[in-house]
Amino acid sequence: ALWDTEDEEVSNEEKTKMLEQEDDIYVSEEDSPASRKGDWVYGARGISTAVHFYQNRQLEQYASKEAQRLTLRQLVFFGRSMNEDRLIKSANYVRTELPVRIAHRLRDLQALPYVVVTQEGVAKVYELYWSAFDKFRRYPQIKNLAENEAFCTFLRGLLDEHKTVIPNLSLGLSLSSPYLAPDRLDSFMRRMLVSRISRRVLAEHHIALSKAMTSKLCPTDRVGIICTGLKVKDSIEKCARFLRKRRHDVDQDPENGIPSDAEWSEVIVDGHVDTRFAYIREHLEYIIFELLKNSFRATRFRHPDTSVLPPIRATVVAGENDVCIRISDQGGGLLTPEIKSPSDLFSFSHVRNATRLADARLGALRSVSVRGMTATVDEQVTAWQRATNAENPQHGAGIGSHPRIGIGLPMSNIFATYFGGSLELVSLDGYGTDVYLRLPKLGTNLEGIEL
Ligand code: COI
Repeated sequence: ALWDTEDEEVSNEEKTKMLEQEDDIYVSEEDSPASRKGDWVYGARGISTAVHFYQNRQLEQYASKEAQRLTLRQLVFFGRSMNEDRLIKSANYVRTELPVRIAHRLRDLQALPYVVVTQEGVAKVYELYWSAFDKFRRYPQIKNLAENEAFCTFLRGLLDEHKTVIPNLSLGLSLSSPYLAPDRLDSFMRRMLVSRISRRVLAEHHIALSKAMTSKLCPTDRVGIICTGLKVKDSIEKCARFLRKRRHDVDQDPENGIPSDAEWSEVIVDGHVDTRFAYIREHLEYIIFELLKNSFRATRFRHPDTSVLPPIRATVVAGENDVCIRISDQGGGLLTPEIKSPSDLFSFSHVRNATRLADARLGALRSVSVRGMTATVDEQVTAWQRATNAENPQHGAGIGSHPRIGIGLPMSNIFATYFGGSLELVSLDGYGTDVYLRLPKLGTNLEGIEL
């Protein structure tokens, strides 16, 4: 039924009138808030952003609508029996739903204190979101397959353009940490990041459904971006294999005297090793990759002189409603003078996690915020393979070292909870860490986005 939402409630006539009024705004700059001294301007970028103040009328209209949240199961069922009519419905759902979700986040950004909005990185994200909102809002209804193809190209362009959002947001909010109470900062980041995941899921799912339909390829184990029989053990082994291969660029750390060719732990997968469930592979693998990376690293540093390191154990358990994965290492645990409680590792606030304002991290974030992030493990594997086929395989020419920007754990937490799962870190201080990842198996939870 969600896909039946026939275009926006605004009639075409009304829409034309609104767009005309808006064009008036662009010409009457003298009367804009920017020209009135002392007035409040977003992003401190002058008139182009001041105009947004007026355009808030459009924003309000979209922001007043509720997001039509979906479950994983709905995404699978709708995508399973695809035909042209359903694909066009899906396109128009994405076209009208994404601006609503972006509008909520623009409102959220607008409610931040001025000192935060003007931080490096935050204004950039605001501009990106505003521009995307505006493009979606003006995008005409999609009526046939050819128009849908153009829409998919449009979506792909935006997905690429937004690759810099997380590092920019993370940089801006870290710099703002001294001005925001930890709970407010963390709940803001949570809303921003969950909503971003949700928008990317809808966009990628629609693109994948469109590709499958136009290429007449009907993979039996996939509906859009959802793997219907995702084998957990294979994903764990794939991440472990890749991390072991590129360990020098993940973790070159001459300062700590760890040679780049030092051995890493074995990963043992046990428990219900045949477990399969329907999930988004990229989400599961993002989490596993980050958790294993931390375990590998901690174990290596905890045992600098040992040639055969204690293994990392990944135990898979298929419960009635959930799939649980416990990852246990002997890397010494999580608590440090800076981290008093494991859950502080999920926080973006320097009050809870002092490393947030460390110079090295801010520097790494600055460089990633320009070039953007590689989103999935597969993208990283491809980039790495391309790089190691180049002249200098030793250092993975072209890919460079993997900067530690400290968003792997908070993002993993957000991925885990997006469809109602959880991620819990248990520190066995002085010995190691157990991480419990629980993901719902039945796909019946609604996306965890908030207004
Ligand atoms: C994002 O990646 O932040 C997005 O909002 C993507 C969407 C515009 C397709």
